[in-house]
Amino acid sequence: MRFVLLMLLKVDFLNFPMWFGRGIIFSFLSDSPNMTGLMNVITTKGETRAVGAFTYDSVGEKLRFTSNESHPTDSSRGLDLLMFFKEDIFYEIDGKTQSCTKNKLHISWHPLDIPNDAKFYTAMTMGSSSVEDERLKINVWGGDLPNTKASYWTSATMGCLPVSTFYFTDTTSFLFGLTDIEPEVKDPDLLTLPSFCHGKSVEDTPEGTVNSFVNEFM
Ligand SMILES: *[C@@H]1O[C@H](CO)[C@@H](O)[C@H](O)[C@H]1NC(C)=O
Ligand SMILES: *[C@@H]1O[C@H](CO)[C@@H](O)[C@H](O)[C@H]1NC(C)=O
Repeated sequence: MRFVLLMLLKVDFLNFPMWFGRGIIFSFLSDSPNMTGLMNVITTKGETRAVGAFTYDSVGEKLRFTSNESHPTDSSRGLDLLMFFKEDIFYEIDGKTQSCTKNKLHISWHPLDIPNDAKFYTAMTMGSSSVEDERLKINVWGGDLPNTKASYWTSATMGCLPVSTFYFTDTTSFLFGLTDIEPEVKDPDLLTLPSFCHGKSVEDTPEGTVNSFVNEFM
């Protein structure tokens, strides 16, 4: 579908309003690559819920996130998540005690993802548009998440590396800051289930609980 639109655009370029044309071109390019980097999770009340390293396989849809810091409360120190979005399963790993829990994932959205139905809003230049090396060109994407009252905005570079993602509902909001990204999976072992997690059965989810990447920080 996207490909068809892109072809159409090439053939009939002048008849398309420019903003529409850009949206189509960028949406064609909106799949995130494999990535390794750092993530900060901050609430709009100013609490740092997590600071840590992530590894993301964008094709296999696997994400590892290990937080080693949070303040003022210590809630996310040592949080270690391995998420398998295709299987709707994630593990909370405790490397110290060599134990883990296996959980069902209810919402597959996460802050590195630009969903296929994300809406392209705008392209902009952060910093200076006239001084080379003093600018970052970004595309802004957004949308509503199905079956929740949540929405998101993601700013990403032209090559679809996320810079920041804002997640919000009526009552909560989170800012995910992504830095020091390398467009590759540096250590594939991090996306492999540790042997002590093998054979676990899925934990029961308490009534009314929603499991998602974002919910881990609420
Ligand atoms: C947490 O991990 C990041 C990335 O590995 C590192 O840069 C940072 O220094 C670590 N912080 C602490 C408190 O260990
Ligand atoms: C992404 O990472 C996975 C896991 O390491 C690897 O199998 C896959 O080939 C990588 N994809 C690309 C496009 O580099």
